[in-house]
Amino acid sequence: MEKAIIGGTGIYDIDKGSYSKIIETKYGKVEVDIVKIEEEEIVFLARHGKRHSVPPHLINYRANIMALKELGIKYIYATAAVGSCNENYAPGDIVVIKDFIDFTKSRSVTFFEGGDNPVKHVDMSDPYCKNLRQRFYQIAKEESVLIKGEAVYVCTEGPRFETASEIQMYKKMNGDVVGMTTVPEVILAKELGICYSTVGIITNWCTGMEEDMSMHNIQELVTENKTKVSKIFVKVFVEGLNQKNCNCKTSILEL
Ligand code: HPA
Repeated sequence: MEKAIIGGTGIYDIDKGSYSKIIETKYGKVEVDIVKIEEEEIVFLARHGKRHSVPPHLINYRANIMALKELGIKYIYATAAVGSCNENYAPGDIVVIKDFIDFTKSRSVTFFEGGDNPVKHVDMSDPYCKNLRQRFYQIAKEESVLIKGEAVYVCTEGPRFETASEIQMYKKMNGDVVGMTTVPEVILAKELGICYSTVGIITNWCTGMEEDMSMHNIQELVTENKTKVSKIFVKVFVEGLNQKNCNCKTSILEL
């Protein structure tokens, strides 16, 4: 098994023939679903748990990513619900995440804990796999799914939403969308040499971007987009990938 999707809500109907598996890691247990699509066994991991019961700041990110590594996963696509603080990206739009700004506070953000192991650092010049991003764009075009553009993801600790002043600050820092989960997921994947890419699905305007912060009745569109995005992921996976097309496997710096 080399390919996985994190997020995953709304995709389970792709194939009825899925089975669940529990993986025990040194960080904790993780349950995944495995679906066979055209000879490819694809792993689905519900980031917040199958019943969406784990809040973003309490997700066991290290267990999740280690479990995927132990299954042999080399490629991960993730979906993320995000708010927009960029006027050009509206609720209902799909964006490809190209970089992040980390405002998390209390999470375990690394596997490199020191101790008896050498001190290691991971390069973040291309946090999201450039090959997975490019392939996503290509297949989206083939499938006539509109991708609004690329976005810088500001990751907050949550679970509270941001104040209007915080959003003004994130805008000034060139943040485009705000969410609570890409950190440390993207970092941990890179530390283990796994190609990782996140696609953002915009669910709302960020605080203060509009008078009415309601969800615009776009729930249906969001669900529809999640399904479209997941189908693109599966198509990229089935068509095949090669880790020679990016630097994700060689991003560890030992100084
Ligand atoms: N802020 C933080 N996280 C989010 C938002 C938001 O506006 N929307 C969806 N996840």
